[in-house]
Amino acid sequence: MKAKELKKRYLEFFKERGHAIMGSASLIPENDPTVLFTTAGMHPLVPFLLGEKHPLGKKLANCQKCIRTGDIDDVGDGSHLTFFEMLGNWSLGDYFKEDAIRWSYEFLTSKKWLGFDPKKLHITLFAGNKDAPKDTESEKVWLSLGIPEERIYFLPKDDNWWGPAGETGPCGPDTEMFIDTGKKKCGPDCKPGCRCGKYFEIWNDVFMQYNKTKDGKYEPLKQKNVDTGMGVERTAAMMQGKKDVYEIETFKPIVDKVKDLAGIKNPDEKQTKLIRVVTDHLRASTFILAEGRIVPSNLDQGYVLRRFIRRSVRYGKLWGIKDSFTAKIAEIVIDIHKDEYPELEKNKGFIFDELNKEEDKFVKVLDQGLKQFEKLGNDGRISGKDAFVLFSSYGFPVEMTEELAKEKSLKFDKKEFEEEFEKHQQLSRVGAEKKFKGGLSDASYENAKLHTATHLLHKALREVLGDHIKQMGSNITPERLRFDFSHDKKMTPDEIKQVEDKVNEKIKESIKVEKDETTVEEAHKSGAVGLFANRYGEKVSVYTIGKYSKEICMGPHVKNTSEIGRFKIIKEEAVAAGVRRIKAVLEKS
Ligand code: SER
Repeated sequence: MKAKELKKRYLEFFKERGHAIMGSASLIPENDPTVLFTTAGMHPLVPFLLGEKHPLGKKLANCQKCIRTGDIDDVGDGSHLTFFEMLGNWSLGDYFKEDAIRWSYEFLTSKKWLGFDPKKLHITLFAGNKDAPKDTESEKVWLSLGIPEERIYFLPKDDNWWGPAGETGPCGPDTEMFIDTGKKKCGPDCKPGCRCGKYFEIWNDVFMQYNKTKDGKYEPLKQKNVDTGMGVERTAAMMQGKKDVYEIETFKPIVDKVKDLAGIKNPDEKQTKLIRVVTDHLRASTFILAEGRIVPSNLDQGYVLRRFIRRSVRYGKLWGIKDSFTAKIAEIVIDIHKDEYPELEKNKGFIFDELNKEEDKFVKVLDQGLKQFEKLGNDGRISGKDAFVLFSSYGFPVEMTEELAKEKSLKFDKKEFEEEFEKHQQLSRVGAEKKFKGGLSDASYENAKLHTATHLLHKALREVLGDHIKQMGSNITPERLRFDFSHDKKMTPDEIKQVEDKVNEKIKESIKVEKDETTVEEAHKSGAVGLFANRYGEKVSVYTIGKYSKEICMGPHVKNTSEIGRFKIIKEEAVAAGVRRIKAVLEKS
Protein backbone atom coordinates (compact mmCIF):
# COMPACT_ATOMS: atom_id res chain seq x y z
CA MET A 1 0.00 0.00 0.00
CA LYS A 2 1.39 3.35 -1.07
CA ALA A 3 1.61 6.26 1.35
CA LYS A 4 -1.14 8.13 -0.49
CA GLU A 5 -3.53 5.19 -0.20
CA LEU A 6 -2.71 4.83 3.51
CA LYS A 7 -3.64 8.47 4.12
CA LYS A 8 -6.85 8.13 2.16
CA ARG A 9 -7.93 5.05 4.08
CA TYR A 10 -7.09 6.54 7.45
CA LEU A 11 -9.19 9.63 6.87
CA GLU A 12 -12.00 7.52 5.42
CA PHE A 13 -11.97 5.24 8.47
CA PHE A 14 -12.30 8.11 10.90
CA LYS A 15 -14.83 9.95 8.75
CA GLU A 16 -17.03 6.86 8.92
CA ARG A 17 -16.69 7.12 12.69
CA GLY A 18 -17.98 10.68 12.87
CA HIS A 19 -14.74 12.67 12.59
CA ALA A 20 -14.52 15.93 10.66
CA ILE A 21 -11.51 15.98 8.33
CA MET A 22 -9.24 19.04 8.55
CA GLY A 23 -6.36 20.17 6.36
CA SER A 24 -2.77 20.28 7.57
CA ALA A 25 -1.83 23.38 9.54
CA SER A 26 1.29 25.32 8.54
CA LEU A 27 4.72 24.01 9.50
CA ILE A 28 5.37 27.38 11.09
CA PRO A 29 3.18 27.76 14.18
CA GLU A 30 0.88 30.73 13.76
CA ASN A 31 0.23 31.79 17.30
CA ASP A 32 2.67 29.85 19.35
CA PRO A 33 6.11 31.30 19.89
CA THR A 34 7.11 28.38 22.16
CA VAL A 35 8.24 26.16 19.29
CA LEU A 36 9.90 26.94 15.97
CA PHE A 37 7.98 24.34 14.00
CA THR A 38 4.78 22.38 14.25
CA THR A 39 6.08 19.17 15.82
CA ALA A 40 2.84 17.20 16.01
CA GLY A 41 -0.76 17.36 14.88
CA MET A 42 -1.87 18.25 18.39
CA HIS A 43 0.15 21.43 18.38
CA PRO A 44 -2.29 23.67 16.53
CA LEU A 45 -5.08 22.12 18.61
CA VAL A 46 -3.83 23.09 22.08
CA PRO A 47 -6.51 25.72 22.81
CA PHE A 48 -9.20 23.18 21.88
CA LEU A 49 -7.67 20.45 24.02
CA LEU A 50 -7.98 22.96 26.85
CA GLY A 51 -11.68 23.46 26.28
CA GLU A 52 -12.14 26.08 23.60
CA LYS A 53 -14.85 25.08 21.13
CA HIS A 54 -13.54 23.84 17.80
CA PRO A 55 -15.59 25.05 14.82
CA LEU A 56 -15.56 21.54 13.29
CA GLY A 57 -16.80 19.73 16.39
CA LYS A 58 -15.40 17.33 18.96
CA LYS A 59 -14.06 14.59 16.70
CA LEU A 60 -11.36 15.53 14.22
CA ALA A 61 -8.84 13.84 11.96
CA ASN A 62 -6.15 15.02 9.55
CA CYS A 63 -2.72 14.51 8.05
CA GLN A 64 -0.28 17.05 9.46
CA LYS A 65 3.12 18.15 8.17
CA CYS A 66 5.62 18.07 11.04
CA ILE A 67 9.23 18.99 11.69
CA ARG A 68 11.17 17.69 14.66
CA THR A 69 14.73 18.85 15.08
CA GLY A 70 15.07 17.00 18.39
CA ASP A 71 15.64 13.78 16.46
CA ILE A 72 18.29 15.22 14.14
CA ASP A 73 21.11 13.10 15.53
CA ASP A 74 19.14 9.94 14.80
CA VAL A 75 18.48 10.89 11.19
CA GLY A 76 20.23 8.39 8.96
CA ASP A 77 18.86 5.32 10.74
CA GLY A 78 15.86 3.65 9.19
CA SER A 79 13.07 5.51 10.93
CA HIS A 80 13.93 8.99 12.24
CA LEU A 81 13.15 11.97 10.06
CA THR A 82 13.15 15.70 10.61
CA PHE A 83 10.21 16.26 8.26
CA PHE A 84 7.41 13.72 8.30
CA GLU A 85 3.67 13.44 7.84
CA MET A 86 1.51 12.42 10.73
CA LEU A 87 -2.01 11.09 10.58
CA GLY A 88 -4.06 11.93 13.64
CA ASN A 89 -7.49 11.58 15.16
CA TRP A 90 -8.70 13.66 18.07
CA SER A 91 -11.41 13.59 20.62
CA LEU A 92 -11.98 16.96 22.24
CA GLY A 93 -13.79 15.73 25.33
CA ASP A 94 -15.75 13.14 23.36
CA TYR A 95 -14.54 9.49 23.26
CA PHE A 96 -11.68 8.30 25.43
CA LYS A 97 -9.40 5.28 25.94
CA GLU A 98 -11.80 2.49 25.07
CA ASP A 99 -12.89 3.79 21.66
CA ALA A 100 -9.49 5.19 20.73
CA ILE A 101 -7.73 1.87 21.31
CA ARG A 102 -10.48 -0.24 19.70
CA TRP A 103 -10.39 1.93 16.58
CA SER A 104 -6.59 1.85 16.42
CA TYR A 105 -6.70 -1.94 16.64
CA GLU A 106 -9.43 -2.25 14.05
CA PHE A 107 -7.74 0.08 11.58
CA LEU A 108 -4.39 -1.68 11.94
CA THR A 109 -5.53 -5.27 11.82
CA SER A 110 -8.85 -5.46 9.94
CA LYS A 111 -8.44 -6.89 6.42
CA LYS A 112 -10.75 -4.11 5.25
CA TRP A 113 -8.25 -1.49 6.38
CA LEU A 114 -4.50 -2.14 6.86
CA GLY A 115 -4.65 -5.82 7.64
CA PHE A 116 -1.50 -6.12 9.79
CA ASP A 117 -1.09 -9.51 11.43
CA PRO A 118 -2.21 -8.92 15.05
CA LYS A 119 0.60 -11.21 16.20
CA LYS A 120 3.16 -8.66 15.02
CA LEU A 121 1.63 -5.97 17.20
CA HIS A 122 3.44 -5.00 20.41
CA ILE A 123 2.03 -2.45 22.82
CA THR A 124 3.62 -0.13 25.37
CA LEU A 125 1.81 1.60 28.21
CA PHE A 126 2.61 4.13 30.95
CA ALA A 127 4.04 2.47 34.06
CA GLY A 128 2.91 5.19 36.49
CA ASN A 129 4.80 7.66 38.67
CA LYS A 130 4.09 10.17 41.43
CA ASP A 131 2.01 12.35 39.13
CA ALA A 132 -0.23 9.76 37.51
CA PRO A 133 -1.12 6.10 38.03
CA LYS A 134 -0.13 3.09 35.95
CA ASP A 135 -2.40 2.92 32.92
CA THR A 136 -4.23 -0.32 33.68
CA GLU A 137 -7.39 1.10 32.07
CA SER A 138 -5.75 0.96 28.65
CA GLU A 139 -4.17 -2.40 29.43
CA LYS A 140 -7.65 -3.87 29.98
CA VAL A 141 -8.77 -2.69 26.57
CA TRP A 142 -5.76 -4.22 24.82
CA LEU A 143 -6.20 -7.50 26.68
CA SER A 144 -9.86 -7.60 25.71
CA LEU A 145 -8.83 -7.23 22.07
CA GLY A 146 -6.68 -10.33 22.35
CA ILE A 147 -3.20 -8.83 22.74
CA PRO A 148 -1.51 -11.19 25.21
CA GLU A 149 0.28 -9.92 28.29
CA GLU A 150 3.70 -10.83 26.93
CA ARG A 151 3.28 -8.31 24.14
CA ILE A 152 2.25 -5.51 26.50
CA TYR A 153 5.07 -3.54 28.15
CA PHE A 154 4.83 -0.91 30.88
CA LEU A 155 7.46 1.80 30.39
CA PRO A 156 8.37 4.97 32.29
CA LYS A 157 7.38 8.53 31.55
CA ASP A 158 10.24 9.10 29.12
CA ASP A 159 8.67 6.54 26.79
CA ASN A 160 4.96 6.63 27.44
CA TRP A 161 3.89 10.16 28.25
CA TRP A 162 3.20 12.97 25.85
CA GLY A 163 3.20 16.71 26.26
CA PRO A 164 2.80 19.37 27.14
CA ALA A 165 4.06 20.90 23.92
CA GLY A 166 5.36 23.93 25.82
CA GLU A 167 6.06 24.42 29.51
CA THR A 168 2.47 24.00 30.58
CA GLY A 169 -0.67 22.58 29.06
CA PRO A 170 -2.48 19.37 28.18
CA CYS A 171 -0.61 16.09 28.53
CA GLY A 172 -1.07 12.52 29.61
CA PRO A 173 -0.10 8.86 29.36
CA ASP A 174 0.05 7.21 25.98
CA THR A 175 -0.07 3.80 24.45
CA GLU A 176 2.27 3.13 21.55
CA MET A 177 1.90 0.53 18.82
CA PHE A 178 4.91 -1.26 17.37
CA ILE A 179 5.28 -3.68 14.51
CA ASP A 180 7.77 -6.50 14.98
CA THR A 181 9.90 -6.42 11.82
CA GLY A 182 11.00 -10.00 12.31
CA LYS A 183 14.64 -8.98 12.84
CA LYS A 184 16.59 -10.78 15.55
CA LYS A 185 16.53 -9.25 19.02
CA CYS A 186 19.72 -7.26 19.59
CA GLY A 187 20.02 -8.61 23.14
CA PRO A 188 18.02 -10.07 26.01
CA ASP A 189 16.61 -6.64 26.91
CA CYS A 190 15.48 -5.82 23.38
CA LYS A 191 11.87 -4.67 23.48
CA PRO A 192 9.71 -1.93 21.96
CA GLY A 193 11.51 1.35 22.49
CA CYS A 194 14.90 -0.27 21.75
CA ARG A 195 16.72 1.56 18.95
CA CYS A 196 18.03 -1.46 17.07
CA GLY A 197 15.19 -1.39 14.57
CA LYS A 198 13.50 -4.68 15.45
CA TYR A 199 10.36 -2.89 16.69
CA PHE A 200 9.01 -0.10 14.52
CA GLU A 201 6.81 2.41 16.32
CA ILE A 202 3.99 3.42 14.03
CA TRP A 203 1.18 4.90 16.14
CA ASN A 204 0.74 6.65 19.42
CA ASP A 205 -2.57 7.20 21.22
CA VAL A 206 -2.21 9.91 23.84
CA PHE A 207 -4.80 10.34 26.56
CA MET A 208 -4.65 13.98 27.44
CA GLN A 209 -6.31 13.92 30.80
CA TYR A 210 -4.01 16.30 32.72
CA ASN A 211 -3.03 19.91 32.53
CA LYS A 212 0.50 20.66 33.66
CA THR A 213 0.44 23.94 35.56
CA LYS A 214 3.21 26.47 35.95
CA ASP A 215 4.12 25.18 39.40
CA GLY A 216 4.69 21.70 37.96
CA LYS A 217 1.43 20.12 39.13
CA TYR A 218 -0.64 17.77 37.02
CA GLU A 219 -4.27 18.73 37.41
CA PRO A 220 -6.93 16.41 35.98
CA LEU A 221 -8.57 18.10 33.00
CA LYS A 222 -12.30 18.55 33.01
CA GLN A 223 -12.31 17.69 29.36
CA LYS A 224 -10.58 14.35 28.69
CA ASN A 225 -9.05 14.27 25.22
CA VAL A 226 -7.52 11.83 22.80
CA ASP A 227 -4.62 12.84 20.54
CA THR A 228 -3.25 10.19 18.25
CA GLY A 229 -0.38 10.28 15.81
CA MET A 230 0.49 7.73 13.14
CA GLY A 231 3.71 8.19 11.19
CA VAL A 232 2.88 7.97 7.48
CA GLU A 233 6.38 7.08 6.29
CA ARG A 234 6.94 4.42 8.94
CA THR A 235 3.55 2.79 8.57
CA ALA A 236 3.86 2.73 4.79
CA ALA A 237 7.28 1.09 5.13
CA MET A 238 5.80 -1.61 7.35
CA MET A 239 2.85 -2.13 5.01
CA GLN A 240 5.27 -2.56 2.12
CA GLY A 241 7.48 -4.98 4.01
CA LYS A 242 10.45 -2.61 3.81
CA LYS A 243 13.21 -2.40 6.36
CA ASP A 244 13.32 1.38 6.49
CA VAL A 245 11.43 4.45 5.39
CA TYR A 246 13.91 5.35 2.64
CA GLU A 247 12.73 2.44 0.54
CA ILE A 248 9.11 3.55 0.14
CA GLU A 249 7.91 5.19 -3.07
CA THR A 250 7.97 8.75 -1.68
CA PHE A 251 11.65 8.44 -0.74
CA LYS A 252 13.20 6.14 -3.28
CA PRO A 253 13.28 8.65 -6.18
CA ILE A 254 14.99 11.19 -3.88
CA VAL A 255 17.53 8.66 -2.62
CA ASP A 256 18.19 7.53 -6.20
CA LYS A 257 18.71 11.09 -7.35
CA VAL A 258 21.16 11.78 -4.52
CA LYS A 259 23.05 8.58 -5.36
CA ASP A 260 23.05 9.43 -9.01
CA LEU A 261 24.38 12.96 -8.49
CA ALA A 262 26.96 11.64 -6.04
CA GLY A 263 28.02 8.91 -8.43
CA ILE A 264 27.58 6.22 -5.80
CA LYS A 265 26.09 2.94 -6.96
CA ASN A 266 26.55 0.63 -4.03
CA PRO A 267 26.92 2.72 -0.92
CA ASP A 268 28.64 1.28 2.12
CA GLU A 269 27.15 1.75 5.58
CA LYS A 270 28.64 5.18 6.14
CA GLN A 271 27.67 6.45 2.69
CA THR A 272 24.15 5.09 3.18
CA LYS A 273 23.80 7.16 6.32
CA LEU A 274 25.01 10.36 4.62
CA ILE A 275 22.76 9.76 1.61
CA ARG A 276 19.82 9.44 3.97
CA VAL A 277 20.77 12.61 5.82
CA VAL A 278 20.90 14.59 2.57
CA THR A 279 17.60 13.07 1.48
CA ASP A 280 15.95 13.95 4.77
CA HIS A 281 17.43 17.43 5.09
CA LEU A 282 16.66 18.59 1.56
CA ARG A 283 13.15 17.16 1.77
CA ALA A 284 12.64 19.12 5.00
CA SER A 285 14.21 22.26 3.48
CA THR A 286 11.86 22.05 0.49
CA PHE A 287 8.82 21.86 2.77
CA ILE A 288 10.04 24.72 5.00
CA LEU A 289 10.67 26.94 1.99
CA ALA A 290 7.28 25.98 0.56
CA GLU A 291 5.72 27.89 3.46
CA GLY A 292 7.02 30.98 1.66
CA ARG A 293 7.92 32.75 4.88
CA ILE A 294 11.28 31.43 5.96
CA VAL A 295 14.65 31.94 4.31
CA PRO A 296 18.05 30.67 5.46
CA SER A 297 19.42 32.92 8.21
CA ASN A 298 21.19 32.81 11.53
CA LEU A 299 18.01 32.99 13.52
CA ASP A 300 15.31 30.59 14.64
CA GLN A 301 13.62 28.68 11.78
CA GLY A 302 15.99 30.28 9.28
CA TYR A 303 18.93 28.85 11.17
CA VAL A 304 17.47 25.34 11.14
CA LEU A 305 16.90 25.67 7.41
CA ARG A 306 20.46 26.93 6.91
CA ARG A 307 21.81 23.99 8.91
CA PHE A 308 19.87 21.51 6.77
CA ILE A 309 21.06 23.01 3.51
CA ARG A 310 24.69 23.57 4.51
CA ARG A 311 25.08 20.09 5.95
CA SER A 312 23.72 18.65 2.69
CA VAL A 313 26.03 20.84 0.61
CA ARG A 314 29.02 19.74 2.63
CA TYR A 315 28.29 16.08 1.98
CA GLY A 316 27.53 16.82 -1.65
CA LYS A 317 30.94 18.43 -2.09
CA LEU A 318 32.55 15.56 -0.20
CA TRP A 319 31.20 13.27 -2.91
CA GLY A 320 32.55 15.58 -5.57
CA ILE A 321 29.24 16.94 -6.89
CA LYS A 322 30.43 19.85 -9.00
CA ASP A 323 27.31 21.80 -9.93
CA SER A 324 24.52 23.13 -7.78
CA PHE A 325 22.44 20.16 -6.74
CA THR A 326 20.10 21.07 -3.91
CA ALA A 327 17.42 22.50 -6.22
CA LYS A 328 17.60 19.36 -8.35
CA ILE A 329 16.69 17.30 -5.32
CA ALA A 330 13.95 19.77 -4.37
CA GLU A 331 12.45 19.29 -7.83
CA ILE A 332 11.97 15.59 -7.12
CA VAL A 333 10.45 16.31 -3.70
CA ILE A 334 8.02 18.77 -5.27
CA ASP A 335 7.00 16.29 -7.95
CA ILE A 336 6.27 13.61 -5.39
CA HIS A 337 4.13 15.73 -3.10
CA LYS A 338 2.71 18.60 -5.17
CA ASP A 339 -0.79 17.14 -5.51
CA GLU A 340 -1.26 16.93 -1.77
CA TYR A 341 0.62 20.11 -0.89
CA PRO A 342 -0.08 22.76 -3.56
CA GLU A 343 2.21 25.22 -1.76
CA LEU A 344 5.15 23.23 -3.19
CA GLU A 345 4.21 24.00 -6.78
CA LYS A 346 3.08 27.51 -5.95
CA ASN A 347 6.39 28.44 -4.33
CA LYS A 348 8.58 26.40 -6.65
CA GLY A 349 10.49 29.44 -7.93
CA PHE A 350 11.11 30.72 -4.44
CA ILE A 351 12.26 27.28 -3.25
CA PHE A 352 14.77 26.91 -6.09
CA ASP A 353 16.03 30.49 -5.73
CA GLU A 354 16.61 30.25 -2.02
CA LEU A 355 18.30 26.87 -2.30
CA ASN A 356 20.56 28.06 -5.10
CA LYS A 357 21.43 31.27 -3.28
CA GLU A 358 22.26 29.47 -0.06
CA GLU A 359 24.21 26.76 -1.84
CA ASP A 360 26.24 29.31 -3.85
CA LYS A 361 26.91 31.37 -0.77
CA PHE A 362 28.18 28.39 1.13
CA VAL A 363 30.12 26.78 -1.70
CA LYS A 364 32.09 30.02 -2.07
CA VAL A 365 33.46 29.75 1.45
CA LEU A 366 33.23 26.04 2.16
CA ASP A 367 36.63 25.11 0.71
CA GLN A 368 38.39 27.94 2.46
CA GLY A 369 36.56 27.06 5.65
CA LEU A 370 37.61 23.43 5.44
CA LYS A 371 41.17 24.54 4.76
CA GLN A 372 40.96 26.81 7.77
CA PHE A 373 39.61 23.92 9.83
CA GLU A 374 42.58 21.79 8.79
CA LYS A 375 44.89 24.39 10.26
CA LEU A 376 43.17 24.19 13.60
CA GLY A 377 43.24 21.60 16.30
CA ASN A 378 46.97 21.11 16.61
CA ASP A 379 46.51 21.14 20.35
CA GLY A 380 43.77 18.54 20.10
CA ARG A 381 40.90 20.96 20.40
CA ILE A 382 38.78 23.51 18.60
CA SER A 383 38.30 26.61 20.71
CA GLY A 384 35.14 28.69 20.93
CA LYS A 385 36.97 31.46 19.08
CA ASP A 386 37.91 29.06 16.26
CA ALA A 387 34.32 27.94 15.98
CA PHE A 388 33.15 31.53 15.94
CA VAL A 389 35.52 32.45 13.11
CA LEU A 390 34.30 29.41 11.17
CA PHE A 391 30.76 30.59 11.82
CA SER A 392 31.15 34.27 11.05
CA SER A 393 33.72 34.17 8.23
CA TYR A 394 33.04 30.81 6.61
CA GLY A 395 29.37 30.28 7.38
CA PHE A 396 29.81 27.03 9.30
CA PRO A 397 26.82 26.40 11.52
CA VAL A 398 28.33 25.55 14.90
CA GLU A 399 26.81 22.08 14.64
CA MET A 400 28.93 21.46 11.55
CA THR A 401 32.08 22.43 13.42
CA GLU A 402 30.96 20.10 16.18
CA GLU A 403 30.52 17.31 13.64
CA LEU A 404 33.90 17.95 12.00
CA ALA A 405 35.60 18.04 15.40
CA LYS A 406 34.00 14.71 16.23
CA GLU A 407 35.12 13.19 12.93
CA LYS A 408 38.67 14.27 13.67
CA SER A 409 38.53 13.35 17.37
CA LEU A 410 39.14 16.92 18.44
CA LYS A 411 37.72 18.30 21.67
CA PHE A 412 35.14 21.01 21.28
CA ASP A 413 32.98 22.73 23.86
CA LYS A 414 29.95 24.41 22.35
CA LYS A 415 29.64 26.65 25.40
CA GLU A 416 32.86 28.41 24.48
CA PHE A 417 31.37 29.17 21.09
CA GLU A 418 28.25 30.52 22.76
CA GLU A 419 30.35 32.90 24.83
CA GLU A 420 32.02 34.19 21.70
CA PHE A 421 28.65 34.46 20.06
CA GLU A 422 27.37 36.54 22.93
CA LYS A 423 30.20 39.02 22.54
CA HIS A 424 29.37 39.32 18.88
CA GLN A 425 25.65 39.78 19.48
CA GLN A 426 26.28 42.47 22.02
CA LEU A 427 28.51 44.18 19.52
CA SER A 428 25.90 44.18 16.82
CA ARG A 429 23.36 45.38 19.32
CA VAL A 430 25.52 48.40 20.06
CA GLY A 431 25.69 48.94 16.33
CA ALA A 432 21.95 48.73 15.96
CA GLU A 433 21.35 50.95 18.94
CA LYS A 434 23.74 53.56 17.67
CA LYS A 435 21.83 53.67 14.43
CA PHE A 436 18.69 54.47 16.34
CA LYS A 437 20.26 56.97 18.66
CA GLY A 438 17.74 59.63 19.41
CA GLY A 439 14.99 57.29 18.40
CA LEU A 440 15.55 55.50 21.64
CA SER A 441 14.78 58.59 23.69
CA ASP A 442 11.20 58.45 22.59
CA ALA A 443 10.95 54.69 23.08
CA SER A 444 7.83 53.97 25.03
CA TYR A 445 7.74 54.04 28.77
CA GLU A 446 6.66 50.38 28.77
CA ASN A 447 9.86 49.55 26.98
CA ALA A 448 11.97 51.27 29.61
CA LYS A 449 10.18 49.41 32.39
CA LEU A 450 10.81 46.08 30.71
CA HIS A 451 14.41 47.01 30.09
CA THR A 452 15.06 47.69 33.76
CA ALA A 453 13.19 44.48 34.61
CA THR A 454 15.57 42.63 32.25
CA HIS A 455 18.55 43.80 34.31
CA LEU A 456 16.90 42.61 37.51
CA LEU A 457 16.10 39.30 35.84
CA HIS A 458 19.68 38.85 34.63
CA LYS A 459 21.00 39.34 38.15
CA ALA A 460 18.32 37.18 39.75
CA LEU A 461 19.15 34.35 37.33
CA ARG A 462 22.79 34.54 38.31
CA GLU A 463 21.83 34.42 41.96
CA VAL A 464 19.47 31.48 41.59
CA LEU A 465 21.20 29.41 38.91
CA GLY A 466 24.82 30.49 39.26
CA ASP A 467 27.42 32.81 37.78
CA HIS A 468 27.72 30.79 34.59
CA ILE A 469 24.60 32.52 33.35
CA LYS A 470 25.43 34.72 30.40
CA GLN A 471 23.12 36.82 28.35
CA MET A 472 22.73 35.33 24.86
CA GLY A 473 20.22 37.80 23.55
CA SER A 474 17.43 40.13 24.58
CA ASN A 475 14.42 41.41 22.76
CA ILE A 476 11.88 43.81 24.16
CA THR A 477 8.54 44.83 22.76
CA PRO A 478 6.16 47.13 24.63
CA GLU A 479 4.25 44.00 25.70
CA ARG A 480 6.94 41.65 26.94
CA LEU A 481 10.61 40.99 27.44
CA ARG A 482 12.50 38.06 26.04
CA PHE A 483 15.81 37.04 27.50
CA ASP A 484 18.08 34.28 26.18
CA PHE A 485 20.81 32.97 28.42
CA SER A 486 23.32 30.14 28.59
CA HIS A 487 22.15 27.33 30.83
CA ASP A 488 22.10 23.58 30.31
CA LYS A 489 18.95 22.58 32.09
CA LYS A 490 15.32 23.39 32.05
CA MET A 491 14.57 25.58 35.05
CA THR A 492 12.48 23.94 37.74
CA PRO A 493 9.19 25.58 38.74
CA ASP A 494 10.83 26.40 42.05
CA GLU A 495 13.78 28.16 40.40
CA ILE A 496 11.38 30.14 38.23
CA LYS A 497 9.47 31.20 41.29
CA GLN A 498 12.64 32.17 43.15
CA VAL A 499 13.73 34.34 40.23
CA GLU A 500 10.32 36.00 40.02
CA ASP A 501 10.30 36.62 43.76
CA LYS A 502 13.74 38.18 43.74
CA VAL A 503 12.84 40.54 40.92
CA ASN A 504 9.59 41.53 42.62
CA GLU A 505 11.39 42.06 45.90
CA LYS A 506 13.76 44.54 44.25
CA ILE A 507 10.84 46.29 42.59
CA LYS A 508 9.15 46.66 45.97
CA GLU A 509 12.30 48.09 47.52
CA SER A 510 11.91 51.19 45.29
CA ILE A 511 15.56 51.38 44.29
CA LYS A 512 16.92 54.31 42.30
CA VAL A 513 18.28 53.44 38.85
CA GLU A 514 21.43 55.45 38.14
CA LYS A 515 23.43 56.04 35.03
CA ASP A 516 27.16 56.62 34.78
CA GLU A 517 29.42 57.24 31.82
CA THR A 518 32.77 55.51 31.94
CA THR A 519 35.21 53.47 29.87
CA VAL A 520 34.59 49.80 29.28
CA GLU A 521 37.71 48.91 31.33
CA GLU A 522 36.58 50.97 34.30
CA ALA A 523 33.15 49.45 34.02
CA HIS A 524 34.50 45.92 34.16
CA LYS A 525 36.83 46.73 37.00
CA SER A 526 33.83 47.87 38.96
CA GLY A 527 32.15 44.51 38.29
CA ALA A 528 29.64 45.55 35.64
CA VAL A 529 28.31 42.80 33.41
CA GLY A 530 27.25 43.13 29.80
CA LEU A 531 28.91 44.40 26.62
CA PHE A 532 32.50 43.33 26.87
CA ALA A 533 33.28 43.46 23.17
CA ASN A 534 33.67 47.21 23.11
CA ARG A 535 36.88 48.68 21.86
CA TYR A 536 39.59 49.65 24.27
CA GLY A 537 38.85 52.99 25.87
CA GLU A 538 35.35 53.22 24.47
CA LYS A 539 32.91 55.26 26.52
CA VAL A 540 29.94 53.26 27.73
CA SER A 541 26.94 53.86 29.97
CA VAL A 542 26.65 51.83 33.11
CA TYR A 543 23.30 51.46 34.78
CA THR A 544 23.29 50.54 38.45
CA ILE A 545 20.28 49.46 40.45
CA GLY A 546 21.38 50.08 44.03
CA LYS A 547 23.85 47.42 45.06
CA TYR A 548 21.93 44.75 43.17
CA SER A 549 22.74 45.15 39.51
CA LYS A 550 25.38 46.88 37.42
CA GLU A 551 25.32 46.54 33.65
CA ILE A 552 26.88 48.21 30.69
CA CYS A 553 23.90 49.17 28.59
CA MET A 554 22.46 51.77 26.26
CA GLY A 555 19.19 52.11 28.10
CA PRO A 556 16.51 53.37 28.24
CA HIS A 557 15.57 52.67 31.84
CA VAL A 558 13.09 53.91 34.40
CA LYS A 559 14.27 56.16 37.23
CA ASN A 560 13.13 53.93 40.06
CA THR A 561 12.30 50.22 40.27
CA SER A 562 8.97 51.08 41.91
CA GLU A 563 7.73 52.15 38.49
CA ILE A 564 8.05 48.66 37.02
CA GLY A 565 4.91 46.91 38.25
CA ARG A 566 4.63 43.21 38.99
CA PHE A 567 7.09 40.95 37.19
CA LYS A 568 5.82 37.64 35.87
CA ILE A 569 7.61 34.90 33.92
CA ILE A 570 5.23 33.45 31.39
CA LYS A 571 7.54 30.99 29.68
CA GLU A 572 10.87 29.25 30.11
CA GLU A 573 12.03 27.14 27.21
CA ALA A 574 15.01 25.91 25.22
CA VAL A 575 15.99 27.84 22.10
CA ALA A 576 19.14 25.89 21.25
CA ALA A 577 21.34 23.37 22.96
CA GLY A 578 22.53 25.06 26.15
CA VAL A 579 20.47 28.19 25.59
CA ARG A 580 17.25 28.92 27.45
CA ARG A 581 14.72 31.65 26.81
CA ILE A 582 12.53 33.43 29.29
CA LYS A 583 9.54 35.47 28.34
CA ALA A 584 8.14 37.74 30.98
CA VAL A 585 5.52 40.43 31.30
CA LEU A 586 4.74 43.20 33.72
CA GLU A 587 1.42 43.35 35.47
CA LYS A 588 -0.02 46.35 37.28
CA SER A 589 1.04 46.06 40.90
N1 SER B 1 1.24 13.98 19.99
C1 SER B 1 1.55 12.59 19.87
C2 SER B 1 2.77 12.32 19.05
O1 SER B 1 3.22 13.19 18.37
C3 SER B 1 0.39 11.88 19.25
O2 SER B 1 -0.09 12.57 18.16
O3 SER B 1 3.28 11.25 19.07
